[in-house]
Amino acid sequence: MIKPDAVGNNHIGPILAKINEAGFRIVAMKYTRLTPELAGKFYEVHKERGFYNDLVSYMSSGPIVAAVLERENAVESFRKLIGATDPAKAEPGTIRNLFAKSIEANAVHGSDSDDNAAIEGNFFFSQMERF
Ligand code: RTP
Ligand code: MG
Repeated sequence: MIKPDAVGNNHIGPILAKINEAGFRIVAMKYTRLTPELAGKFYEVHKERGFYNDLVSYMSSGPIVAAVLERENAVESFRKLIGATDPAKAEPGTIRNLFAKSIEANAVHGSDSDDNAAIEGNFFFSQMERF
């Protein structure tokens, strides 16, 4: 997902270019906006965390781009491409190093496991079996 800060700052194009350059194929993509209810559901695993309410309002504050990406070793490779959660700690050249504003407004989301990638793909797209 390209998060509201990156969409609002016109970083969709440069981020998609980085993703393509890193060898990912885009198999589904959507420009949309999450309601607070949907953002809360997407990040439900974090509901006991202190940052949850802020995260939900931030993630529903503007449009986002959701995409399903395909590549060998996709989850690990994508998390390497995006860099650490806190952009101040993200490696030079990573998407968060280049485009993120803060630990919360950190430009992109990446799935953390193959199982969660499947769950999150189904969250945004129906008929995933067609891809
Ligand atoms: P993501 O799920 O969005 O790909 O990010 P991540 O795995 O790198 O980080 P995670 O621990 O899953 O946290 C989810 C998102 O919550 C926001 N966050 N805010 N204020 C804070 O201390 C804080 N910590 C995390 C970030 O937007 C983070 O990406
Ligand atoms: Mg995460």
